Amino acid sequence: MRLVLLGPPGAGKGTQASAIVEKYNIPHISTGDIFRANIKEGTALGQEAKAYMDKGLLVPDELVVSIVKDRLLKDDCKEGFLLDGFPRTVKQAEALDSELDKMGIKLDRVININADPEILIERAVGRRICRECGATYHVKYNPPKVEGVCDKDGGELYQRDDDTEETVTTRINVYMEQTEPLIDYYKNQGLLLDVDGTKKIDEVFVDITSELDK
Ligand code: AP5
Ligand code: MG
Repeated sequence: MRLVLLGPPGAGKGTQASAIVEKYNIPHISTGDIFRANIKEGTALGQEAKAYMDKGLLVPDELVVSIVKDRLLKDDCKEGFLLDGFPRTVKQAEALDSELDKMGIKLDRVININADPEILIERAVGRRICRECGATYHVKYNPPKVEGVCDKDGGELYQRDDDTEETVTTRINVYMEQTEPLIDYYKNQGLLLDVDGTKKIDEVFVDITSELDK
């Protein structure tokens, strides 16, 4: 299964991605996670990306596209993959199409998770992530058993630098200007699966997988 997850910041892409890749046994490719890993390791790529991410702006297309191209050529992508947070501009979507063309493969579905801005801000600001395994929690909607501690491995939970109300607001505006056009782009290709992201986490998962399994 070759999938793309679209949706504004805080819609639940990462949360659904973790469950989807487990069910279909495909790799989870999150460009945001790749950048955060590079920032943690102190690489040149991480330094460059951080300047944009901290402001809530998109990292330049050329940089993102070359990372994803390399990733898709890895062996574990042969049977499928889930792209989370890529593409995010029409230019990135066109670059992805041409790369998949070269590889002789096509996307199966593009899952678009919808939610209104007020919900998105509350979700992003309340998000907590495990430093060790990257598991995502929410202080109100998906709290860990012990505050500040990951249920899975006991790792410390932290808040992303770009999860302040101000930066999330910028990210939502950037999404509406630069990423929302992709909804029509993929609708025209007959690939779009619209999902109501305001439902509970488990319900959204059922809505997605019941369509994918048809
Ligand atoms: P990225 O890391 O992709 O961030 P994002 O798109 O802004 O999305 P988020 O990760 O914030 O939200 P999500 O939809 O994954 O929500 P989650 O499941 O965690 O990108 C970060 C930055 O990197 C960008 O701003 C940009 O600078 C750069 N970048 C990345 N990709 C790029 C690209 N292709 N091009 C250019 N630049 C790029 O859920 C959020 C919270 O809500 C959690 O706490 C969760 O527990 C909770 N939650 C989830 N679902 C529900 C639910 N149904 N009900 C209640 N709570 C829920
Ligand atoms: Mg995410």
